[in-house]
Formats: sequence, C-alpha cells, structure tokens
Amino acid sequence: MCGIAGYVGKKDGLVVVMNCLKRLEYRGYDSAGVLFFSAKGGSASNGQNDQAELKKSPGKLTNLEKKVKNSCATPLLASIGHTRWATHGTPNETNAHPHADCHQKIFLVHNGIIENYRELKEQLEKRGHKFKSQTDTETVVHLLEDNYDKGATFEKTLDLTLKKIVGAYAFGIINQDEPQKIYFARLGSPLVLGIGTKEYFLASDQAALAGMAKKIIYLKEGQRGWISPTGFKVWPNKPIIERLDLNTEVAQKSGLEHFMLKEIFEQPETIKNALRGRLSTNGVKLGGLESVSKKLSKIKNLEIIACGTSYNAGLIGKLLFEEISDIPTSVSLASEHRYQQIAHRPDTGYIFISQSGETADTLAALKKIKTQGYLTLGLVNVVGSAIARETQAGIYNHAGPEISVASTKAFTSQLTILALMALCLGTKNKNKKELARELTLIPNKVKLILKQNDQFKALAKKYLQFQNFMFIGRKYNYPTALEGTLKLKEISYVHAEGIAAGELKHGSLALIDPHFPIFTLTNKNSVYEKMLSNMEEVKARGGKIISIATAGDRKIASVANDVIYVPKTLEPFEPLLNSIALQLFAYHFGVLRGHDVDKPRNLAKSVTVE
Ligand code: M6R
Repeated sequence: MCGIAGYVGKKDGLVVVMNCLKRLEYRGYDSAGVLFFSAKGGSASNGQNDQAELKKSPGKLTNLEKKVKNSCATPLLASIGHTRWATHGTPNETNAHPHADCHQKIFLVHNGIIENYRELKEQLEKRGHKFKSQTDTETVVHLLEDNYDKGATFEKTLDLTLKKIVGAYAFGIINQDEPQKIYFARLGSPLVLGIGTKEYFLASDQAALAGMAKKIIYLKEGQRGWISPTGFKVWPNKPIIERLDLNTEVAQKSGLEHFMLKEIFEQPETIKNALRGRLSTNGVKLGGLESVSKKLSKIKNLEIIACGTSYNAGLIGKLLFEEISDIPTSVSLASEHRYQQIAHRPDTGYIFISQSGETADTLAALKKIKTQGYLTLGLVNVVGSAIARETQAGIYNHAGPEISVASTKAFTSQLTILALMALCLGTKNKNKKELARELTLIPNKVKLILKQNDQFKALAKKYLQFQNFMFIGRKYNYPTALEGTLKLKEISYVHAEGIAAGELKHGSLALIDPHFPIFTLTNKNSVYEKMLSNMEEVKARGGKIISIATAGDRKIASVANDVIYVPKTLEPFEPLLNSIALQLFAYHFGVLRGHDVDKPRNLAKSVTVE
C-alpha cells in the first residue's frame, strides 16, 4: 500500500514524478504529496539558488495536480512523491507524505509500517524533536536528523537509522545538503530502481516506469543506496540489473473508461498467456516447477494459502487438485494461518497464491512455513516480487500489470494455472487429454461472454435499486459465487453474500424476499438438478432470480427472472467463464452507482500491511 516515486535527471522531475504517481495511484489514494526543488523558491533554502518545495493534498492525486499546476522542478535536482493509503493518522494534508525533520532539511516518503515508532517518538521528543503529524513515518525523518547531527555522512546516517527501526519499509529520502541525490532503502515493502540515460528513477512498482526506464533493479530485502544524475550506489550487496521490457500501453486504459473494464476484456489474452508454452500435445510442462520436480513427486497433500480473490482461486484449486490429481488439498486464509498452531503435515507442499506477490499476510504465512522446511511454491503475477522470491519454485501468471484494485484477469489466470498444475500432478487421470483440449478452447469462449457486455449493463440497470444480493452455487460454483460477492461488495458498496446452495435451507433462506435478489450459478453439470430445486425453493418465497446458465438450456428460463448464458465447458472450468460474467455485472453495477470502480473507497491494490 502507498506508492513511492523518485526522479533525478535532465527532465522536469515534478512532471516525471507526477506521471509515475498516476500509475501508482492504485496502491493508495487518500492523499498525495511531492518534494522538488524549484528556482522560484518555496518554503526552505537548500543553500544554493533552488529551494525545496513541499506540496501535499488530501484526496486523490487530481487535487495535488491542481496544486502543482504552475510549478516546475529544476533539472538535475532530485524530486520525490507519494500516494498514500493511511495506516496511522487520518488522511489529511499534515499526515500526507513527504514528511520533514524539524528544520525542513530532510524529506522522506515511506511505504510500510514502523512498528516501534511509539518508543522512538517518545525518545526523540525528549531530545527536543517536534512532531507535526500522527504518522509512524515522521519518526524516521526525525531519527535521520538526530543521527545526522552527530556529524556522520548521510550514508552512515542512513545505516545507523535503519538499525533502530523495526517494521517494514520502502523509503525515498532527500537531504537538502545533497539536492542531486535520492537515498532509498527497502525491507518488507517493494521498491525498484529504474535506469535510463543519465537519469534514474525510484518506484514502488515497475509498471510506473514503463516507457521511461530501460533497465531495472528489483531491490532486495535490506538493500539501500542512492541515485544521482551521474550514477547510483546500492549496498550492502551488489544489485542485479535487468532489462525492463514493459511498454507504456500496460499502464494505460487503451481508450476504455476504466482499468477494470480493460482488464476484464484482456482475459482471452491473459488466459492464453497463462497457457502459452505450458500446454502441448505432449502434456503439461511447467518450467517453473522443474527445479523441485523430485520433491513434488513425493508430495501427498497440498495446502493453498492466500487472501481475498486469490483465496477464492485457491478454493477452486482445491477442487481441481482433488478431482484431477487425486491429491488431498486444504485451503487457508493467510491472515488466519499465520497465527494458528498448525499440526505437522508430512509430505505436504504449500502453494502461495498472490497477484501482487506482496500481500503481508501471505508473505508472513510463507515465512512461517519456510522455517518448518516444507516445499513452498508460488503462483504470482508480479515478477520479482517478495513471494516470488521467497518461495522455492513457482509459476508466474504472465497476466501483465493489474491496475484496478478489483482483481479480474489475475483471478482467471490463477485458475488457469491451477488447472495446469492439477493436470501436471494428475499423472493417472484418464481424462487428461480431454481436459487439456478444453482448456485451450476457453479463451474463445470468454470472447463470447464479453460480446454480451451490453446485456450485463442492462441487467445492472434493472437491479440497481437493490441493496442486498445473494449468490449461490455448488461444487466449483460455490467459490465462484464467493468471488462474485467479493467483486460486487468491493466496487458497489452493496451487501452480498455467497452461500453453498445446499446450505440455503439451513438458515440463509430466511433472508429471501422480493427485495433480496439471488444469483444462481446453474450450469448444466453434475449438480444442475440440485440447483434447479434450490431455485424453485427461492421462487416459492418470492425471491427474484438471476441465473448464469449454459447456452441452449431452455428449462432455466421458466424458473429464473433473468438468465445470462455462457458457453458450455467442462465442469472444472466453469469458474473461468462464470466469474467473468459476474465481473461484468459488478463492473456495470458499480459504474452505474457512480463509483470510481478502479479505486474503491477504503481499499488499495497491494495490502502490504496486516
Ligand atoms: O495480491 P494478492 O493476490 O495477494 O491480493 C490479495 C487480495 O488483497 C486481493 O485479491 C483482493 O481481495 C482484491 N482486491 C479483490 O478484488
């Protein structure tokens, strides 16, 4: 959570930093700020002709944009910026980053949480430091000031300061004594360095640097350093420089109204990307798992750990592994698993699913499992992210950056990869060929659903006045129903609950009346008749029914009030189609209600705090 951007080079640093912040705004959007040097002058002198200008605004980045509209940064001098998701202190101007020391000499932006900030703040206040904000972050800038006062170089000051901090951080720091440099450090929160021609960048995510930097350094845990227009330094260990191949396209909406819609429409391609090079007539080949193939062949149980949408993908993964690979599989919420006393599970392999690869709870659960010596595998979208690095082996989604806070294309690509893994591990499955063939047909079937976009919009309009929804399904469609509720709640702010259809009459049916519409996932599959009975029970109680059904099913229209048809597929792959139908409904519902669906209230894309 929170986005950090920094620039040193020939260009106007303010423009570059604001551009990067725009691409990072998905990480947090309750306030924003920048620090740059300007010849016009501002709040404090750096001892030369240029002066440091600190501009901050509560609310979305557009507020800050208005504030800096007539400003420009002096080339070759450093600029940093931040977009915030509040953890400590309300999202107001004072609490927005950058934060400054007592003398407005050192400025700092931070992503993460300083766990020992109370103790540090108490000590610093006793030593005369004056705090302005309610944030944990401000402690660090005063601590830097305190250590710097002792006459050390700023490199040493940074090292000394980091030793005293407990918690997670990615920092961008400007010290007015060296206005051409941005110091940085990372531990537990992501940070990358971009390298251009005589220009250097700092960002929380590589997507912010698309089309600007040519090379990239994914900073490792504990690495720190500085960038200046003439070079950079990273310590304590040597950084690895890689090519950055992202184009600007990935960070743009391609003419569509929202990233969410763009990402929903990318799914035929992202599902293909997840399959590419991994599925052939010879079977499934998962290069990322080759290094652990021996260990994998001995695995007798699997456990999947994740949060949110990735957890819902895990629930579907469990059904895939049990049905296709005959491997007993359990699924846990990372936020629960990390604090539970777990019984010893011999021969268990752990799969950690995370789009961002940064989710704090998933990462903590992974670290805990690692200490117990189990095999750990990652299913991650963001290349080089913490979970990708910490797991022993893994598979990347190759879905491209997912900017909208609501996860869509990452979810279906997670499902695709889980299906591939299940096929790969299901050495004795007799239906493997049929399953594999069907998987290759999914992208075209997704296109047929996307063609019905207008129908979803009309449906959303029809049900717009309702405040409560229920989603029901059985087997694979139960976790799909849960994912449907998450999407709707997240971007529409209406109440939705997902129920295993067979559980309805054990309590939740009492909720149903003409004001509580119910989505049923009623594909023609092994539980079709059971679902029809559940629908009849709802209808008998005056409930309004919206069904997702298999194309060609004539019976369903006599029970449901509204039907959306999806192409026929094999039962294990129904979530790949049904979830996209539910994404489109949620998208239009949220938009019609007037919400910013890409940036839902109170949320942020990467949940890097507990
Ligand atoms: O990056 P991750 O997949 O680890 O994120 C987990 C959840 O925070 C995420 O899936 C969240 O639930 C989505 N915003 C839901 O759309």
